[in-house]
Amino acid sequence: MVIPTSMPVVDEEMEKEVLRALREEFFVGGKSVEKFEEEFAEYIGVDYAVAVSSGTDALVIALRCLGIKGKVITTPMTFVATAESIVLAGAKPKFADIDANTWNISPEEIRKSIDRDTEAIMPVHLYGLPCEMKEIMEIAEDKKLKIIEDCAQAHGAEYNGKKVGSIGDVGCFSFYSTKNMTVAGNGGMITTNSRKIAEMAKLLREHGGSNYSEYIGYNARMNTINAAFGRVQLKRLDEWNKKRKWLARLYEKNLKEVKQIKLPLIDERHVYHLFVIEAEKRDRLREHLKNKGIFCGIHYPVPIHQLKPYRKYTRKKYPNAEKHAKTALSLPMYPILKEKELKMVCDEIKEFYGD
Ligand SMILES: Cc1ncc(COP(=O)(O)O)c(C=O)c1O
Repeated sequence: MVIPTSMPVVDEEMEKEVLRALREEFFVGGKSVEKFEEEFAEYIGVDYAVAVSSGTDALVIALRCLGIKGKVITTPMTFVATAESIVLAGAKPKFADIDANTWNISPEEIRKSIDRDTEAIMPVHLYGLPCEMKEIMEIAEDKKLKIIEDCAQAHGAEYNGKKVGSIGDVGCFSFYSTKNMTVAGNGGMITTNSRKIAEMAKLLREHGGSNYSEYIGYNARMNTINAAFGRVQLKRLDEWNKKRKWLARLYEKNLKEVKQIKLPLIDERHVYHLFVIEAEKRDRLREHLKNKGIFCGIHYPVPIHQLKPYRKYTRKKYPNAEKHAKTALSLPMYPILKEKELKMVCDEIKEFYGD
């Protein structure tokens, strides 16, 4: 038996919708794209959603729409696309360390990092757990900074009754294949309550206005069949997130006695895009599980500030992010993971540590 780290769900309705869209609609930016945008905006609770071709494009376009050129504070513990988008948009990343318990960017560290060139904060709701948005919004208001939420890992997660992606100035989502919902390939979405931002995002995704170009833009439109697939995935999202939460509690129940590991925050707000633990002898544990057919991920082995292209943006150390990168292990987590498979993973972890 093989248990992967993550697995997308494809059902008959998704396949049918893709085929229907392929036969009936324009291939790029067809009717399904518009419908997907309307439904996604409604789901998130914002006035506008603009579909683009990836989460990275969503972030770059969002920064361009806000006119950010100075420093953007973000976490060093994230997928590289977060910091990459800042550089691609012509701004500069500035890192603030993570909290040792949530593994999300620490509001206290954000405050310490702000200088007069700071224009924005890009919090990442890492692994599916919303950041401390109340504190982050207060900082933004206080210092007159823009907020771009990187929601690539947190579709459907709620913070104080609001969905992530509806709290800051702009929210950016990725629909890459392993995410909590996908479009069967690459795709992204920008969410906002600002008509001005939504209109500019629509221009930027299409060469800045195509034949009547107003800006230097991108070819970042969404393909119709991806939107058709995504619309059905969106209908399943809440049920899948519920299942992920249930699986997380099951992991907690089975692993809480294992002293050599630290569990993630078990919290109603968390949608567990990944179920990440901090583990002693992490690499050996991963190898042990692999030998039993259980594949675990090391998502961010090197924090962004230590990656070659980003070293020039800081000379500081970020001890919490550095420790997390050395010990973090992503256990299998996806809505069709079976209870008995999850128990097997837990039993093998216990066996490894000799419990
Ligand atoms: C936190 C984060 N930001 C941005 C991205 C970029 O999204 P995409 O791969 O769709 O460009 C991803 C995912 O891949 C991500 O996990």
